[in-house]
Amino acid sequence: MTPRIAVVGSINADLVVQMPRLPGRGETVSSGEPAWFPGGKGANQAVAAARMGGNVSMFGAIGADEPGQMCLSALKQSGVNVDAVVKVSSPTSTALVMVEHSGENQIVVADGANQYASFDAAQISAADAVLVQFEIPESVIVEVGKAAKGIFCVNAAPVRELSDELAGLIDVLIVNEHEFAQLGEPKSGLVIVTAGSKEVVAYQNGEVVAKSQPPKVEALDTVGAGDTFVGAFVVAYASGKTIPDSLDLACAASALSTLKLGAQSGMPTASEVNEFFNK
Ligand code: RIB
Repeated sequence: MTPRIAVVGSINADLVVQMPRLPGRGETVSSGEPAWFPGGKGANQAVAAARMGGNVSMFGAIGADEPGQMCLSALKQSGVNVDAVVKVSSPTSTALVMVEHSGENQIVVADGANQYASFDAAQISAADAVLVQFEIPESVIVEVGKAAKGIFCVNAAPVRELSDELAGLIDVLIVNEHEFAQLGEPKSGLVIVTAGSKEVVAYQNGEVVAKSQPPKVEALDTVGAGDTFVGAFVVAYASGKTIPDSLDLACAASALSTLKLGAQSGMPTASEVNEFFNK
């Protein structure tokens, strides 16, 4: 079954600079040439889900500018339906992404159009899974959660406090180990905790129900790896795969995504992930 996935979230233009090491406070570090890439946690997860075989619609906002057009084209190229992406008078949100040669990164997001992300409740309620992240206003996220009839999946990144109202709506929460610690370890529903190249753990109502070890790769750029995990997991889980199988697929997709520069450039297709398993 091809799951219908609705992603309500951020669309950013990423200005990526590579450098020998990340700057310290008050320090200037020289880098190579700057490069623009499509990004934003929402758009990244939409692209990852579409490449993994989901029927994906994106809900979000861009500015009437060139970076917005670049982001829109990238979504379309990966087969994401962008009919519900709105153009607003604010500029497209922009992320300054600093990538150290070791693969470590630091990101600053200059907020713009993402503040005006909107959605259509009827379309949200028709989706098998609905995916949100924390780069759009909390009020929008809560309304999306109320409209969702399928699996409501929240990627609490970048982390901020989880209101009781939102926590009560979530079916699947996906966080990294740092976000997990900051959220105070939610005890209900399915909670998936990623840890970079270390083991991913899934908890159901506070009990460990599955674990998966991401395959080892020579990572060039880990920006977007977490988003690839989320998009791939949601497609697998919404199409009826078990939690352990969904974790394995998402771990492989996420590892493969780190082999190219740019959040969306390395995101694999379902057949590339299958090939990887059959090697
Ligand atoms: O998760 C990676 C993303 O975070 C980047 O693409 C950047 O836009 C920031 O939102």
